[in-house]
Amino acid sequence: MLDPEQLLYVYELKGGVPPPFLNLEGLLGVWPEADYTYLFFTSPADSTLESFFREHPEYSLTRHYRLPYGYWQQLAVQEPLVIDRFKIVTSKQSVKLSSDEILLWIDPGVIFGSGLHPTTRGCLRGLSILYSEATPATVLDLGTGTGILAIAAAKLGAQQVEAVDLNPMAITTAADNCERNGVRDSVRLIRGDARDQLPEAELLCVNIHFDFLETFLGNSALCRYRWAIVGGFLKEKLPEVRLLLPSCAMVKKPVLEEKGWVTLLLEMVS
Ligand SMILES: C[S@@+](CC[C@H](N)C(=O)[O-])C[C@H]1O[C@@H](n2cnc3c(N)ncnc32)[C@H](O)[C@@H]1O
Repeated sequence: MLDPEQLLYVYELKGGVPPPFLNLEGLLGVWPEADYTYLFFTSPADSTLESFFREHPEYSLTRHYRLPYGYWQQLAVQEPLVIDRFKIVTSKQSVKLSSDEILLWIDPGVIFGSGLHPTTRGCLRGLSILYSEATPATVLDLGTGTGILAIAAAKLGAQQVEAVDLNPMAITTAADNCERNGVRDSVRLIRGDARDQLPEAELLCVNIHFDFLETFLGNSALCRYRWAIVGGFLKEKLPEVRLLLPSCAMVKKPVLEEKGWVTLLLEMVS
């Protein structure tokens, strides 16, 4: 993990979450929001980004900041965070849990998946609902970020979880978080593109930006799973997402929504 004094160079960009960012030199982490993306570097990345914008004029820089990592942590983390059955903390501490509460100890660093974002929260709610009625033993988590959904699934009873992310820093962060939560043996982390990594599983969790979902949901890959939890898109995209879903996918109720972000719980029917 980073030193609290370590300076972070944060660049705010307008224009969604462009996949090519992940190949930028020195990139530590990416936080996608509705219309903006925040890129984190440990040294100034002005010249790297300048050449990026020349090649991708569809994206633009709106602001940039410089702040110590410790300050970012205070902004990014409010704890304990309670989401359904999950209580999320960022540091080792004794926390009072009721009989059905589950502790998630997640240090996000600069990686997406602290539990604050509505898409993460929707997926955690989806997991909680699904595991109250079934017990998927195997789970595939695409775009794992901090590993939060993979860890939650393991703690809910999944025996084997495969978790994939493009960003190597996400894999390191997720590995540390798995260790903290005592689930290192049941979660296998894979650094790679979710488009190429589709191991078998009963349950698929995918919380990746809409550009990814648009192509992913449009093919019949979903039909290989028994259930799926799909997050990462705004309410206005829901009709489009419904049209993209293959005929094997039945949308279960409730459709989860928070601050305009939607999460779907799907059951595949033959
Ligand atoms: C919105 S975050 C979700 C993190 C976490 N699963 C959660 O629910 O909070 C999306 C993650 O997907 C990763 N990602 C984006 N495109 C990807 C791709 N094509 N293949 C694998 N991972 C990808 C990003 O690096 C990021 O960590």
